[in-house]
Amino acid sequence: MSNYQLYINGKWTESTNKERFFTKNPATREILATFPKGTKEDTLKAILAAEEAFPKWKMTPAPKRGEILLRVASIMRKRKEELGQTVTKEMGKIIAEGEGDVQEAIDFIEYIAGEGRRLLGETTPSELPNKFCMTIRQPIGIVGCITPWNFPIAIPCWKLGAALISGNTVVFKPATLTPLCAAKLVEIFEEAGLPSGVLNFVTGSGSVVGQEIVENPRIKTISFTGGVSTGVDIYNKASKLLKSVHLELGGKNPQIIMDDADLDLAIEGVLFGAFGSAGQRCTATSRLIIHKKVYDLVVKKLLKQMKSMKIGNPLNPETDMGPVADENQEKKILKYIEIGKNEGAKLLYGGQKLRDNFIEPTIFEAKHGMRITKEEIFGPVLAILEVKDYEEAIRVANDTKYGLSSSIYTQNIHLAFRAIQDLEVGITYINAPTIGAEVHLPFGGIKNTGNGGREAGTSAIEEFTEIKTVFIDFSGVLQKAQIQEQ
Ligand code: UN1
Repeated sequence: MSNYQLYINGKWTESTNKERFFTKNPATREILATFPKGTKEDTLKAILAAEEAFPKWKMTPAPKRGEILLRVASIMRKRKEELGQTVTKEMGKIIAEGEGDVQEAIDFIEYIAGEGRRLLGETTPSELPNKFCMTIRQPIGIVGCITPWNFPIAIPCWKLGAALISGNTVVFKPATLTPLCAAKLVEIFEEAGLPSGVLNFVTGSGSVVGQEIVENPRIKTISFTGGVSTGVDIYNKASKLLKSVHLELGGKNPQIIMDDADLDLAIEGVLFGAFGSAGQRCTATSRLIIHKKVYDLVVKKLLKQMKSMKIGNPLNPETDMGPVADENQEKKILKYIEIGKNEGAKLLYGGQKLRDNFIEPTIFEAKHGMRITKEEIFGPVLAILEVKDYEEAIRVANDTKYGLSSSIYTQNIHLAFRAIQDLEVGITYINAPTIGAEVHLPFGGIKNTGNGGREAGTSAIEEFTEIKTVFIDFSGVLQKAQIQEQ
């Protein structure tokens, strides 16, 4: 077991607080490492280090910043197996998904490193002769990245990669459940040659470290992925300082199965979408909306498949689903299973706690409007709903306060295109599950899923750059826009 420190100004540093917290393996409850409970003073030190490092990092040519990121990706490639195991041990997703988490990070870092040779602006004609107009992208300054536990390598890399290539310096606070993955990531950035102070890492609670990141006026932008109530709180506090805030929050993602769908494919899809990572993804499928003509058949086939799902040690490659992330997750998921039963949903499969942190994959036959069809559970609980036609399927799918991901299985190209148009979400999959976003496309949602931004893809740098508009007048005379020469 290792005792980690904070990483401030290029050095692994003791916290001002001697108190530590543990990170545990949810499958075995083994303690993996300890971390300092960072303080306000620690966070301030990290902010000041980031401030000092900013001018030089800003002036480092973006392609050179990209070279460092490519080195990060190459180290991650070499350590992929070990990092994947760390994800699985610290967070509980099965090993194939643990390695997938790392692969997603590698993919993004390689993609965004190339942005160092783009960071594109625009050029346009001027309304006046001998005048040139363009935009350039500049870094914002010090940014705060507050990351979740469910993708403990990939999501930090989405944020850090985009922030760093854009020329910002960073204060990084990982989720308290997964600081080990985060610390390994910071070691990799260090090994790749990131200059001191450019990335600073402070572990600890949201109410201390997170609070300082949000309320310190030196930090100009905050990127947060997590729950809605924390997101709203950050947004409120940061807005008083006119900070820009990027929020990636919850989902209640539907998969629709139409009567003409390839049913076996659709069932394979929902099993992956609903129970992958034990349902702990913001893109997880939590509602299965089935056309009445195929409802009975889908349910029968689905239940048959469920029986062969193997729940257990997530490091065993044979396992289909591992534990949930910790006892709080367990409690919340079991509470929702009770809510489902009490509001009259019919438990078709699962519903039991197997042992500490292990919950059976669970399926309810529900009625639209029940709490389990509306609230994010963030666990392996699927609500299935019967609808009479495409219109009702879309109405039900859209009647939620979230708007992240969605999926429809149909062979009818007209319906597929209508669904692309009609589903009120940020991401739609046709004949594929609601999970599995690719990093070179924008990721994010509408409604309570966020506040309008997108991560990854071409949008990744938008939250981390300011646009400057530039006018260059080479006429040698005073030219006045909008004012007619007499
Ligand atoms: C998340 O669920 O928190 O779409 C992020 C996916 C992932 C990203 C999900 N690649 O499944």
